[in-house]
Amino acid sequence: MVKIAILGYGTVGSGVFEVVRKNREVISRKLGDEVQVKYVLDIREFEDDPVKEVLVHDINQIITDPEIAIVCETMGGVKPAYDFTRRALECGKSVCTSNKELVEKYGPQLLKLAKEHQCSYLFEASVGGGIPIIRPLRTSLAQEEILSITGILNGTTNYILTKMGTEGLAFEDVLKRAQEKGYAEKNPDADVLGLDACRKIAILTSLAYGKNVDFSDITTEGITSITDKDFAYAKAMGATIKLFAQSVKKEDQYDAIVAPFLVKPDNPLYAVNGVFNAILVKCNMGGETMYYGKGAGKLATASAVVADVLDCARHIGKHLDVKWEDQKLEISSIDEVTRRFFVRVSSKDEDWVKSMFGAQELFTDVVPDEIGFITEEMTEAEYKKRAANAKNVLSMIRMD
Ligand code: HSE
Repeated sequence: MVKIAILGYGTVGSGVFEVVRKNREVISRKLGDEVQVKYVLDIREFEDDPVKEVLVHDINQIITDPEIAIVCETMGGVKPAYDFTRRALECGKSVCTSNKELVEKYGPQLLKLAKEHQCSYLFEASVGGGIPIIRPLRTSLAQEEILSITGILNGTTNYILTKMGTEGLAFEDVLKRAQEKGYAEKNPDADVLGLDACRKIAILTSLAYGKNVDFSDITTEGITSITDKDFAYAKAMGATIKLFAQSVKKEDQYDAIVAPFLVKPDNPLYAVNGVFNAILVKCNMGGETMYYGKGAGKLATASAVVADVLDCARHIGKHLDVKWEDQKLEISSIDEVTRRFFVRVSSKDEDWVKSMFGAQELFTDVVPDEIGFITEEMTEAEYKKRAANAKNVLSMIRMD
């Protein structure tokens, strides 16, 4: 019998409790041993919930119990999750978490601690909810040089952009609907400003290259300035708009960005709609692989936590190595990255946009009193210079 504890009986924690109970038989069959939740830690009481049989309010009860081999940290936030995680690892208890904030901030440190104490720190659920992506990066793709990772890593923004594209709605209206449906938080800033996706691509990039990416080094733009006019142009060019979180390795240089991109149907991420997430990984030997599924939600995220529990249960007394050193991975300035840009200007002068931006594809009758066009290839720095000189740019979206 493998006895586990769950820290936090919120959405994910209660999901872990449910997955372990409802899938008891399938877990036993596949693991060859039974997994039992011995404790759930929460400050609240849950009178009409089966959890009340195992509910505790003091972390020390869990930390000092030698029967507990694995702890699921599903509290979120840094305090007190960081302290509880450290204490569990110091006692040789493996920790499985969905807490991306903690993983992004303290991943290398907690992994080192796990190694010192012959236990594991696993965090499949911290990126992409129920989508297996951490384990593939850690094991299935360990032999590969990762050339790029491009993710739709935020369900809220993907839902908003999908609805804007299919129903021609304004950003604010879809956001309101997403909040009503519970897809978007009451304070949606972390999602719509791209910060949530930024933390997630920072984690994936750190794992891909084994060094630590500081999320503040990643150029991050959200979706708040995308309008129905932008979607009208996207439609005219047979494309859509997606919030990409992307990191690219070119020789020994790494760049990373979170921003809206215009995406055409030849990219498999074009078809990822609604609250779904997907991650496209390009490798130097095997080429492209893509991982798709529910990026959030109680049971999807909890299922990923339980997958880590089973991994730890198979390796009790051993450390599952996750290569992620504390050494900083230098992210190059985005200014040097070359690409094409879709630009809207408040002008009708086609010759001018051609000479000013090397405009190649022009869209002159999508929105009155403006031209939309795709520039020639140029660096981000060059684009910024030309846009500043032009003084009439209404919006810019990067081309995939
Ligand atoms: N708020 C996130 C999203 C889920 O919308 O994808 C948690 O990471």
